[in-house]
Amino acid sequence: MKLSTLFVGGLASLAAAQTPAPYTDAKSGITFNYFAHSTGYFFGLALPANSTGNTDFIATIGGKGTGWSGTSLGGGMLGKLLILAWPNGQNIVSSFRKTANYGSPAVATGTFTQTSIPNGTYVNSTHWTYTFLCSKCILTDKTTFAPTDTAPSLGYAVNANAPSQKTNPASSVSKHSTEGQVVFDLKKAQNANFATWKTWAGKPAVAKRERPFLG
Ligand code: HEM
Repeated sequence: MKLSTLFVGGLASLAAAQTPAPYTDAKSGITFNYFAHSTGYFFGLALPANSTGNTDFIATIGGKGTGWSGTSLGGGMLGKLLILAWPNGQNIVSSFRKTANYGSPAVATGTFTQTSIPNGTYVNSTHWTYTFLCSKCILTDKTTFAPTDTAPSLGYAVNANAPSQKTNPASSVSKHSTEGQVVFDLKKAQNANFATWKTWAGKPAVAKRERPFLG
C-alpha cells in the first residue's frame, strides 16, 4: 500500500517537472520552446535568430477549462512583469500585471505591448491558446529575463477557477492553486522565421498560415 502510494506520487511529480522543449503549434506553424504542466497550463517562447538589440518575443499561453494561466517573465511573483490570461467563450482576455504584494496583481502599464496572433489564438474542446507578439517586453530593469540571458527561470501560476469578471482584462483573480518556476532554453527558442511570424500580429487569421513553409 505504502509502496504504491509512493509510486503514484513519483509519477505525479515527474509529470509536473517537465522541462521546456521545442513544440510547433499545428494551427499557426510557430515553433516555441514550450513548457507544458500537468494542470493543462502551458507557455512557449519564440525569439529571433539574432538577439542583438531585440526586445520582442512571440509567446503562447494557455490552459484547459475556464480558469486562468499566468506567467512571470522574471521568475517570481513580486516586482516582476506578469502575463495573465483566461478564456471568455471563444475569445481570450489578457493583460500585463505587476505587484509588490502577494495578492491579486494590478494591471501594469509601460512601453510593452501585446498583440494577438489570430492563427495561434483559439479555444477548442481540449484547451485554450493565446499566441501574441510581445513588443518591448524584454527589459533591463530585472522585471523580466534580460536580453543576454540564455537560461532564465520563468514563473507559472494557474487556477482552474475563472476570474470574477471574465470579460474585464483588469479583473481580480483568486490565488493560484499551482505555481512554480521553470528554466527556459532561449537558444532553442530562436528561429529564423521569427520576422515572418511577427508580421502576423494583429492581422486576421489566414488559413494558409497553417502551412507556412509550403509557399
Ligand atoms: C490573489 C491572487 C494571488 C495571491 C494571493 C498570490 C500569492 C502568492 C504567494 C503567497 C506566493 C508564494 C508562494 C506561496 O506561498 O504560495 C506566490 C507565488 C507566485 N505567484 Fe502568486 N498570487 C496571486 C496571483 C498571482 C498571479 C495572477 C500570478 C501570475 C500572473 C502569480 C504568479 C506567481 C508566481 C510566478 C509565483 C512564484 C512561484 C515560485 O517562485 O515558485 N500569482 N503567489
